[in-house]
Amino acid sequence: MASQIPSPELDDVAAGVGDVSGAPAPMPVRRVVVVEDCATTAPPGLTSMLSTVVRRLSSGMSKRRATIPPMPQPKLYTELAEWWPTFSTPEEYRGEATFFKRVLARTSTPPPRKVLELGSGGGNSAFHLKSRFAMTLVDLSPNMLAVSRALNPECEHVEDDIRTMRLGRTFDAVFVHDAICHMTTESDLRAAMKTAFIHCRPGGAALFAPDFVRETFVENVDQGGNDTERGSVRFLQWITDPDPSDTSYFVDFAILIRDRAGGMRVEHDRHTYGLFSRAEWRRLLREVGFVLNTPRATLDGLGRDFFVGSRRR
Ligand SMILES: C[S@@+](CC[C@H](N)C(=O)[O-])C[C@H]1O[C@@H](n2cnc3c(N)ncnc32)[C@H](O)[C@@H]1O
Repeated sequence: MASQIPSPELDDVAAGVGDVSGAPAPMPVRRVVVVEDCATTAPPGLTSMLSTVVRRLSSGMSKRRATIPPMPQPKLYTELAEWWPTFSTPEEYRGEATFFKRVLARTSTPPPRKVLELGSGGGNSAFHLKSRFAMTLVDLSPNMLAVSRALNPECEHVEDDIRTMRLGRTFDAVFVHDAICHMTTESDLRAAMKTAFIHCRPGGAALFAPDFVRETFVENVDQGGNDTERGSVRFLQWITDPDPSDTSYFVDFAILIRDRAGGMRVEHDRHTYGLFSRAEWRRLLREVGFVLNTPRATLDGLGRDFFVGSRRR
């Protein structure tokens, strides 16, 4: 989830990422594209149909898809997804997104233009990143994608599981923000990292930003919410780790929703997040093929660790 802390300074980024420079990248307006050449020549309806066929074919060919257990989908990303923009506004993501935009811009020379975001949710980060990068946004939840499409109609959207997705093309950079927290086992985390690696062009890089690593984890309670045209949301977020010996912790949300007519509902939504040490993060990133830009995890201006891995040229 987005932090409420204002935009940090990039000075906090450790060495390993280059200079920030260059004008905002032009934003091509593209529909769903899996076979890029088709997108430039075929009519939009045909392009979309071809994309679906190609994706289904490749998913049928992937043995991994058949064996990997489905991801549990919390209420927030399913039945409550329409409330996401009231639960968490684009403005609340500005500080983090501005910071990550500058980090991403330094990950390669020339600076990246095409960026893939894995687990892009309601598109709040993308809302800020799209001024500089041509964004392709991937999420498992069709409801969250619908929210993101409304906010970011100029971005490409893909519905898929970031543990198994294979688009068959590469990007200058891959961004994996808070969705990486949903990887609760080493094999899921490794699978998402592998997806990022496979979609990175040689010389490109991936940026991972988990909410916590084992060393920074603290149980805590927080609250938030907003008033929008749709209605109002207030929530309490309670973070606990009942079993510190495993690789997960709980985030329990108590959510109050008031619609425009004044009707009030209350929901409990439990999210299970993954928790791994810095050493585990570094080992897994190296195992999938990344070269780490820094010898240890880098502390960002929000007091959180993030990881930048490059793919060799
Ligand atoms: C906290 S939300 C992301 C919010 C996002 N940063 C934004 O800017 O709006 C986490 C997202 O991760 C997605 N997610 C979780 N597991 C996933 C998976 N295996 N594959 C794709 N998306 C996944 C959820 O559907 C959800 O939309």
